[in-house]
Amino acid sequence: MLDLVFATNNAHKLEEVQAIVGDRFRIKSLDDIGCHDDIPETGHTFRDNARQKTDYLFSKYNVDCFGDDSGLEVDALNGEPGVYSARYSGSRDMEKNIDLVLERLARKEDRTARFKTVISLLLNGEQYFFEGAIEGRIIMERRGEQGFGYDPIFIPDGYDKTFAEMSAEEKNKISHRAVAVQQLAAFLKEVSKG
Ligand code: IMP
Repeated sequence: MLDLVFATNNAHKLEEVQAIVGDRFRIKSLDDIGCHDDIPETGHTFRDNARQKTDYLFSKYNVDCFGDDSGLEVDALNGEPGVYSARYSGSRDMEKNIDLVLERLARKEDRTARFKTVISLLLNGEQYFFEGAIEGRIIMERRGEQGFGYDPIFIPDGYDKTFAEMSAEEKNKISHRAVAVQQLAAFLKEVSKG
């Protein structure tokens, strides 16, 4: 079994990835390798940020590793909140962040948006990227109690309910993160065959 460090301490994300990659890889968290640093995330794209995480871990710990970065892109806001999704209003308060998106979209007709995830993988010194996206639109007001972040205002194409009105199981089948993780998992399965 090969060790692979995931640049996160989010138990949910760790479990999700471990379940998909199965018994070939042991996924370790930042805590597991004793990394308690605030890893810099100063890039202007999801890809830059994901890469920063793996570059940091590789240079400091010399480990095979992967890291992800995600967010919401709203077309009429020129792709904002984008890499600023977690702190769009200047704080981590998601109520405020959602309010700001709704306010800035108030007089816009185009409400198309997407969630995106980019995963950076450093394996045997080689750099790989995996991406997932889900297209949809931003509604006028919040609906639903599930999920997190911008879920209450996002309806994926082909559905009539928000991510926050879906069960975790339903969302996790189609989400940007699920798509990116599936790609990573498929790649890891392939390379671990030999
Ligand atoms: P992270 O890179 O996965 O930590 O995501 C950064 C930010 O993007 C989060 O704090 C959320 O505001 C937003 N975000 C990412 N994924 C989702 C999602 O699946 N639903 C709602 N918001 C999300």
